[in-house]
Amino acid sequence: MRKNGISKILGIETSCDDTCAAVVELSAAAETSPFGRFDPARSRLNILSNIVSSQTKLHEKYGGVFPSLAKREHQRNLAAVTAQAIRSSGLKKMPKEKLSKEDLSEKVKNLKMIFGKEDDFFLSSAEFLKKTGKPDVEAIAVTIGPGLEPSLWQGINFARAASSWWNLPIIPVNHIEGHIAANFIDQKKNANADIFPAVCLIASGGHTQLVLMKGIRKYETLGESRDDAAGECFDKAARILGLGYPGGPAIAKAAKKFDHQDPDLKIKLPRPMMFTKDYDFSFSGLKTAVLYDFKKRPEKMQRSKNYAKAMAHEIQEAIVEVMVYKTLKAARTLQARSIITGGGVTASERLSSRFRSEIAKLYIQPDLLVPAKDLSADNAAMIAAAAFFDPDKISGWKKMEADANLRI
Ligand code: KG4
Ligand code: ZN
Repeated sequence: MRKNGISKILGIETSCDDTCAAVVELSAAAETSPFGRFDPARSRLNILSNIVSSQTKLHEKYGGVFPSLAKREHQRNLAAVTAQAIRSSGLKKMPKEKLSKEDLSEKVKNLKMIFGKEDDFFLSSAEFLKKTGKPDVEAIAVTIGPGLEPSLWQGINFARAASSWWNLPIIPVNHIEGHIAANFIDQKKNANADIFPAVCLIASGGHTQLVLMKGIRKYETLGESRDDAAGECFDKAARILGLGYPGGPAIAKAAKKFDHQDPDLKIKLPRPMMFTKDYDFSFSGLKTAVLYDFKKRPEKMQRSKNYAKAMAHEIQEAIVEVMVYKTLKAARTLQARSIITGGGVTASERLSSRFRSEIAKLYIQPDLLVPAKDLSADNAAMIAAAAFFDPDKISGWKKMEADANLRI
């Protein structure tokens, strides 16, 4: 099945509000599994295509993701996004399979079973599959959790349909593992095998987690947020300040313009759980502190740009400081050789610059891995990449289920 040590996987990701499809190739692996297994010292993961259809504009007025709307959009977008991912990947065209009437009706029957009463989704998927020849990949990878259950199911059902139609195995992928895998994609040189043990900080709109990674697929959760995720806190605070959605980039932009000389605007927010003995986080109190400070200000100030800039600066400092402090504490205690970051929040320039300056103060300095800018937020390339971590975890299309609370 595998030619010249190269294999390709089509990835599908719909755990939240982005509809994503991608094709990723593993090269120079020499393993015995049906597809090559990723080895950070010996193999490379290359993106052939990576398509993200963002729903941000749609959810903007809610200040967060509205699940039933996200579900509907995934159903509308999946066929087109996947077609584009296959088209732009440069995969060679496979000879078209000649289907007998019986074969075709069997395939359509499977799709009906998968999509149930979702008629429009059935129609768009069936049309796509009839039109698109089987792509030159050996498997389909799909996110099964964690995430929003209605969103997850759309990607899963679409992947099941493609799997049954094209006769390709499916590899179920954990979204958090995908964020970690994003660090290993398109690296110019092979990552050194000495990066382990690593401490991984995953920070997004839905998650804030610290994970000890002893090797590929060897994980231990160290701690996580007890309430709001870091990105959620950015999003909610930005909404209070009228800075727009998503909050992380909006706050980063406003914070950059903050004038440190302004004497009226000394704001000090708490650093929640910074010095607790565990590796957990809590960001909902921070959002409440922002709201209290906002409410006590005169109306004119609430609407002033200077206030928004000062507050944005302080929120960013508070979130970044807590995350950097706790991650480095874990890294020191567990003698980590590297810090691996992932998730939309790790696109924060302030976060990586703070990591760098704090790491520089350490006697033993771990490496810092930050995914490429377009790979820190949700995408399907990271899902296909993570599938190469365990390509033997193959499942049949009949058995797949979403697990909104899946753990790493
Ligand atoms: O990983 P992601 O795209 O989706 C989830 O799985 O949630 O992360 C989205 C989150 C949002 O909360 C957004 O505000 C935040 O990542 N974010 C940032 C930045 N870019 C996106 N937070 C801080 N700084 C940024 N530059
Ligand atoms: Zn994510």
